[in-house]
Amino acid sequence: MNFGVITEEIINELKTFVGEKFILTDDENKLHYGHDETEDLIFKPAVVVRPSTTNEVSEVMKLCFQKNIPVTPRGAGTGLSGGALPILGGILLSMDRFNKIIFIDEENFQVTVEPGVITEVLQNVVKEKGLFYPPDPASKGSCFIGGNIAENSGGPKAVKYGVVKDYVLNLELVLPNGEVIWTGANVLKNATGYNLTQLIVGSEGTLGIVTKIVLRLIPHPTNDVLMLAPFSSAEKACEAVNAIFRVGVSPSGLEFMERDAIELTAKYIGETNLPMDEKVEAHLLIEVDGNDMDSLYKDAEKISEVLKKFECGEILFADTAQQKSDLWSLRRSVAEAVKMNSIYKEEDTVVPRSKLPLLLKGVKKIGKKFGFKSVCYGHAGDGNLHVNIMKGTLTDDEWNNKITEGIREIFKLVIELGGTLSGEHGIGLVQKPYMEIAFNKIQLQLMKDIKKAFDPKGIMNPGKIFAD
Ligand code: LAC
Ligand code: ZN
Repeated sequence: MNFGVITEEIINELKTFVGEKFILTDDENKLHYGHDETEDLIFKPAVVVRPSTTNEVSEVMKLCFQKNIPVTPRGAGTGLSGGALPILGGILLSMDRFNKIIFIDEENFQVTVEPGVITEVLQNVVKEKGLFYPPDPASKGSCFIGGNIAENSGGPKAVKYGVVKDYVLNLELVLPNGEVIWTGANVLKNATGYNLTQLIVGSEGTLGIVTKIVLRLIPHPTNDVLMLAPFSSAEKACEAVNAIFRVGVSPSGLEFMERDAIELTAKYIGETNLPMDEKVEAHLLIEVDGNDMDSLYKDAEKISEVLKKFECGEILFADTAQQKSDLWSLRRSVAEAVKMNSIYKEEDTVVPRSKLPLLLKGVKKIGKKFGFKSVCYGHAGDGNLHVNIMKGTLTDDEWNNKITEGIREIFKLVIELGGTLSGEHGIGLVQKPYMEIAFNKIQLQLMKDIKKAFDPKGIMNPGKIFAD
């Protein structure tokens, strides 16, 4: 594909659409908008454009369509698969000025928001009305709803409440040619034609630009119980996960953290109140929520009984709001803490929940074979294990070549176990070489044909998801 060059004339046109102040061409901004949270990757765009209305986005896209200019949409830049990196230059379309909560429909339990609203801000605003928007990625304090939609994000609550796709009812979308559509209707059931809404969720900004979002809400639970359970065997901790569901409990959070994950994070955030026995290999952080404290205590009791069968140590029950918030903050900081410790590659493996112990065992075995250390943690209740592969003392050559083969083996194992490549971080740039492990030619061609129907000129977030 031969892309058009961004000339002075095009920059001037962009200025008339969006306003001079919101067209950025200086190096500092190009650097800032040229990276997200993926490894240490940086790709500077030719220009950063910060529109604030659907009409402005439409004008920008009409021009880019006409001139063949690549456009990479970006939310808050918290992505972990490089989806928002403008790898082929062109325009970086920042959605940060789309930051309004447009309407809370309390009667129908729905909210209409713009994509640049911070996830936690939305959660807090609807909570004041007794309503709950559950998807809560670890970066909820800084990530945007729009980015969450692009990646179909999850987070700890997904185990009980589902992921982003389960809350998206309708989307306003600017197509690559600048036309504007709504993908569905603001209804809880919809059996009308192909489901364009769900096609856009998780499409990583490759089919169009989301400019308005209608989300479903639910009543906010009033209580929760949080417990931290240590295990002297990480595999046993993983085995306990499935057993919890088998006794009929449905936790609202079921997170796994290897010893290294907790140690690195405690050090990073300065948490000193977490004594850990030498033998402890891993922890499960388990939450149950609801409205009736008695039944929550019964659930916690049932969980404790199950955990004992898997040789768990003394369980810590968080009894103050502060203690709960500290434990969650520890869990939410793992990715950042590991990143501060070493360059790393983050894999977002997901398998059927009962296969989690086999996945962990396999990852460690592959690590030994290829000589890398991994720090594993994640949403165990969803069978979703984040595998952070540390560069440590590996040479650049080993890191760029040998390790890639190791990752390939991990993904082959994931597929053998009936899982897939990403549970919530997406494919973006860094996982695209592995797509052919999960899909055959026919499946990939179908996806590419869909892309072509939306984006015949291939200007929308090019170079993502597909290896060629
Ligand atoms: C987490 C992010 C990295 O679970 O998905 O911490
Ligand atoms: Zn996660």
